[in-house]
Amino acid sequence: MSFFRFKTHVETVRRLRNDKRDRHDRFRLDANERLEGLPASLWKKFKRDLRQEDVLCYPETEKFYEKLAGHLGVGVENLVLTTGVDGAIKNCFELFVKPGDTVVYPDPTFGMVDVYARLFQAQAKKIPFGGAVAIEDLIKVVDQGVTFVFLPNPNSPTGHYFQNSDLEKLMAACREKKTGLLIDEAYWGFSPGTAVDIALRFENVAVARSFSKVFGLAGLRIGYLIAPAPLAALLYKFRPMYEVNQPALKLASLVLDQFDEVFAYGRRTREGRKYFVDSMRQRGFNARETEANFVYVDFKEKRDALLTHLKEKGVLIRGSYNLEAFGDWVRLTVGPAAIMKKLIGLIDEVLC
Ligand SMILES: Cc1ncc(COP(=O)(O)O)c(C=O)c1O
Repeated sequence: MSFFRFKTHVETVRRLRNDKRDRHDRFRLDANERLEGLPASLWKKFKRDLRQEDVLCYPETEKFYEKLAGHLGVGVENLVLTTGVDGAIKNCFELFVKPGDTVVYPDPTFGMVDVYARLFQAQAKKIPFGGAVAIEDLIKVVDQGVTFVFLPNPNSPTGHYFQNSDLEKLMAACREKKTGLLIDEAYWGFSPGTAVDIALRFENVAVARSFSKVFGLAGLRIGYLIAPAPLAALLYKFRPMYEVNQPALKLASLVLDQFDEVFAYGRRTREGRKYFVDSMRQRGFNARETEANFVYVDFKEKRDALLTHLKEKGVLIRGSYNLEAFGDWVRLTVGPAAIMKKLIGLIDEVLC
């Protein structure tokens, strides 16, 4: 018996505590973060400009809204700042999902979606993303009863990626059924394109973007939703008093000032990704490239010896996902070629 009334379904939601290890000085290939520092000039400016008022005062969000809108070529009324894509997903659940509603999303996908589905008492219709998936697999389950569809493009951890022509079909199918759709572009920059321009033509569709991945601000928790103005206005109603913290706004603003230089990490990672995958194949391993900053490698009978060696060398690896398509292949975060060379060197220490 409890001493207060609360939403008792919450008791059934399992949450794991975050990693206790100090990850900062490790070779971090486990969380798909940016593996390289920000440009030195940018970091220097951030440190020089950071004032105590940035923590004494509440955040000044509006200047950043204007700057981001100008940068993206959209209106301020199309944007909602969020605590990363994670916050954007929660925002969408808050707007779209009532207890008992059906939501559709890939299985597996970014773990917080399952958590929100349970917390918001949604019925989850999970689409198996273990093997090959066609957009029609998603479209055919979107019926009148589905209130919200979530699709990361590319998806994590599976790496599935849909072309804009497919996404447009899904957007149209969702519109026809009056279903909200969130396209998660957390890995924007590592993949060839974006669905933002198309999404802005659909009143039921939002796109979430992150500063955590290609821009390297994972620790600051900043991202945003882009949507047609009426949808963005509804999402905006769920914003906290201040959407994101002031140091995050300050550094994200500097990132926009040096956008091309910071964003080039995406292109260099795509090159490093290919270089690493080719190198693994040359060594006789199967490897799967994705459109994100991670790849899968099948180290076959060398797997255990390699993982032990890499662990001893301070490399952090998340391990395998038991996906139908990947068996016990290992997922590794990738970055530019110089960083991949370092990893290949460690791998070769076991192979030689
Ligand atoms: C598909 C996907 N969406 C969202 C996120 C979370 O992004 P953010 O740090 O912006 O909350 C991740 C993190 O790895 C992810 O893989």
